[in-house]
Amino acid sequence: MATKSQSRRREGIPAGTAATKNIGLRGVTVADTRISDVDGEHGILIYRGYRIEELAENSTFEETAYLLLHDALPSEEQLKDFTQRLVKARQMPSFVLHTLKNMPHGAHPMDVLQAAIPLLAMADLELYDESREANDARAVRLIAGVAAIVAAWQRIRHDREPLPPDNALSHAGNFLWQLMGEKPDADMVRALDTVLVLHADHSFNASTFACREVVSTQAHMYAGVAAGVGALSGSLHGGANAKVMKMLQELKNEQDVAGWVRKQLDSGQKIMGMGHAIYRTTDPRAKYLKQMGEQLGKKLGQEQWHRLSTEIEETAVAEFAKRGKTTIKPNVDFYSAPVYHLMGIPLDLMTPLFAVSRIAGWTAHIIEEKFGEAQGKPALYRPSSDYTGSYCGNTGCVYEPMEKRS
Ligand SMILES: CC(C)(COP(=O)(O)OP(=O)(O)OC[C@H]1O[C@@H](n2cnc3c(N)ncnc32)[C@H](O)[C@@H]1OP(=O)(O)O)[C@@H](O)C(=O)NCCC(=O)NCCS
Repeated sequence: MATKSQSRRREGIPAGTAATKNIGLRGVTVADTRISDVDGEHGILIYRGYRIEELAENSTFEETAYLLLHDALPSEEQLKDFTQRLVKARQMPSFVLHTLKNMPHGAHPMDVLQAAIPLLAMADLELYDESREANDARAVRLIAGVAAIVAAWQRIRHDREPLPPDNALSHAGNFLWQLMGEKPDADMVRALDTVLVLHADHSFNASTFACREVVSTQAHMYAGVAAGVGALSGSLHGGANAKVMKMLQELKNEQDVAGWVRKQLDSGQKIMGMGHAIYRTTDPRAKYLKQMGEQLGKKLGQEQWHRLSTEIEETAVAEFAKRGKTTIKPNVDFYSAPVYHLMGIPLDLMTPLFAVSRIAGWTAHIIEEKFGEAQGKPALYRPSSDYTGSYCGNTGCVYEPMEKRS
């Protein structure tokens, strides 16, 4: 059967004429997954059957990561063992820290993180062991490793020594300690832990799909994760949280919001943190984070961020509706940004912090992909494209020597 490209050529359609509308794979189901599901109509997110609100309220990041990786909540013994393995993996090999120290201090933390993931591969003595067990161990190393790299880089770029981990602290608590160099406040630890639970997975989003696509070639887990970090860095994905905070800092006053929103939309610009490829209503994580931001703001005497974000949300949603777009609502990044800011997270560490959580989902998806755990067997991703370039018939174009080219 002739491909679409071949039929077009037979019909004499000139090169350069658009053939396929790129819909960014919206609505295209590429595989089964048992890990998480997004119901965009009703604003429901589940991890392994559990609603996100239930986990945010009752679980911890360690337990949620276990759930994502193992398809069930752990027993007390299993959680203890998993936590101990995470704690052990916090210690970075010295050559990793040494390499980080040699990176330009002005480098963006997402670039540093993406560059550092293969260093963890180089430190993996079982790199070519592709058993489920070896991949489980790798997932633990990566969950601890991403947090350790982000925290170490924050110290290094400010000419400070990375801090040794405090093994008595939880994953969230230790991350704050290694990042800030102060023993963290219990409320902040709980808030960060909840944020980590909320961001840990989100079905086949761009970065997770990037991870799965890379390991479908039988590349190792680190190669998949490095691709995921790259995908997350973009402002239409994880990079949106930093853009939201920048918007909040630039806007400052609530009375400027209405004019700014209209100007933004009239000039075809996006309002960051609004809209979603799947949600047609408010993202359930945004609802939760909005409340968290309000509470944290009250505690810290910084209620202006909640007021400003709420004003932007209400104005933008009304303005979108006037323009016939009734389904554009706040997404996770709209309300995570002020929460991160209140926690003292610098703007350019907001997207890396997303990665500190999402690594749990990435590694779970990589394992599911590698072992075909939701399918009969793994498959290499290889989509098709429509060729709309030059065509000179079956024999191909004649190669012209350089001196004859016009
Ligand atoms: C996430 C995003 C890429 C999804 O895009 P999408 O799948 O095209 O979303 P929709 O199909 O609902 O968009 C429909 C229309 O609304 C527009 N739109 C969507 N989100 C918008 C936003 N935040 N600001 C302005 N316009 C927006 C789209 O450009 C599109 O316009 P068009 O029909 O005139 O071409 C988009 O909402 C966006 O860019 N948001 C801002 C970035 C962001 O917050 N990313 C983090 C996502 S978790």
